[in-house]
Amino acid sequence: MKFGTELMRQADALGQFTEDPPRVTRTYLSPQHKQAGEYLIGLMRRAGMTASFDAMGNIVGRYEAADLKAPVVMTGSHQDSVRNAGKYDGLFGILTAIACVKDLHHRGKRLPYTLEIVGFGDEEGVRFGVALMGSKAMAGSFEASWLDKADESGVTLRRALADFGGDPDAWPGLSRRGRVAAYVESHIEQGPVLLNEGLPVGVVTAIAGGSRIRVTVTGLAGHAGTVPMGSRQDALTAASELVLFVEKHCETHKGLVGTVGKLAVLPGAINVIPQQVEFTIDVRSGDDALRRKAVAAMQSAFEEIAKRRRVAVTVSPFYAADAAPCDSALQQEFADAITAHGIPVRLLPSGAGHDAMVFPAICPIAMLFVRCGNNGISHHPDETMTAEDAEIATSVLLHFFEHFDAAAFAVRR
Ligand code: HGY
Ligand code: MN
Ligand code: MN
Repeated sequence: MKFGTELMRQADALGQFTEDPPRVTRTYLSPQHKQAGEYLIGLMRRAGMTASFDAMGNIVGRYEAADLKAPVVMTGSHQDSVRNAGKYDGLFGILTAIACVKDLHHRGKRLPYTLEIVGFGDEEGVRFGVALMGSKAMAGSFEASWLDKADESGVTLRRALADFGGDPDAWPGLSRRGRVAAYVESHIEQGPVLLNEGLPVGVVTAIAGGSRIRVTVTGLAGHAGTVPMGSRQDALTAASELVLFVEKHCETHKGLVGTVGKLAVLPGAINVIPQQVEFTIDVRSGDDALRRKAVAAMQSAFEEIAKRRRVAVTVSPFYAADAAPCDSALQQEFADAITAHGIPVRLLPSGAGHDAMVFPAICPIAMLFVRCGNNGISHHPDETMTAEDAEIATSVLLHFFEHFDAAAFAVRR
């Protein structure tokens, strides 16, 4: 194997950079982010690239074209992870691209465009609650107000960037608007479709849009032994009805998925009726109108339930990203590369969000999926893939890079 074994070894090595071993957790601007970044920068430089951290903590490597006036094509994925993650979400897209450049460099071959490989610093949004900040800075959609977002220990993004060696005020200069012909990303599928159909790779048609909402339910604490059931204002039983509404609504509307992933109860004592509950909702759909209607339906249902249960509810949407279509010509380029490997072409949507979803604002995008094992489980330590599939996906990506006519994609000003 030219690529697969080495790539899996690199993913194992990167899995050591975690905040809570033996689990894999690597959040934005942490010491582990710095260590993982330095490891990736080392790989990039040994593959013949220039590489460094940018002002937002993204890892940026460049494999220059022979002609310095040539267009730029961006690729990569994110280096950060969710808590207790697997080892391939994000990282695969960075490692596979570096493996391609290493092979080109070994052959002394330059591309007719400059290839920029990026390890985005913060796709998951675990530490500061806002997702995709690294890629949004490069897509020109970063918001200055995010610099004041604080993590659980009260450290603001501004402070964390300065401590990391970044430059919180330099973000406007990172935008690639008007400077990139296309953005492509390789990523594990994080689902079972390719596995069930016996395919190693697939081409993404579109990335689902998403909304993230914080809900606070406020009732009245009381003694668990003395307050009669009929006169309680129990924040947790009320919140439970809201949570089940999210599930019911998404189960009964095809094309929607809804998840309540975090829930906190106060005061959290066995013998006290819950005073307050805070939980999060993640709603996704390939159809933005359907998703927006779902959020509106939740808001009105929550008001009715809160009134009936004599509790207060606040619904605070804090993130929304529209569904991102993949460019059909770029999809075709990946389809041709897959066909050249004698593999049937499978087009499929992505239920998961990716850095790619912020780039349609400045250039056409496309994604290549690689098969996951263990029924496609992801955001979990059992996330897995094989060296053989890493080999095939990297070979397909290299074919894409070597046949891509970036000049045909006039840079959108
Ligand atoms: O949530 C997602 O879909 C991505 O993993 N951030
Ligand atoms: Mn993820
Ligand atoms: Mn990911």
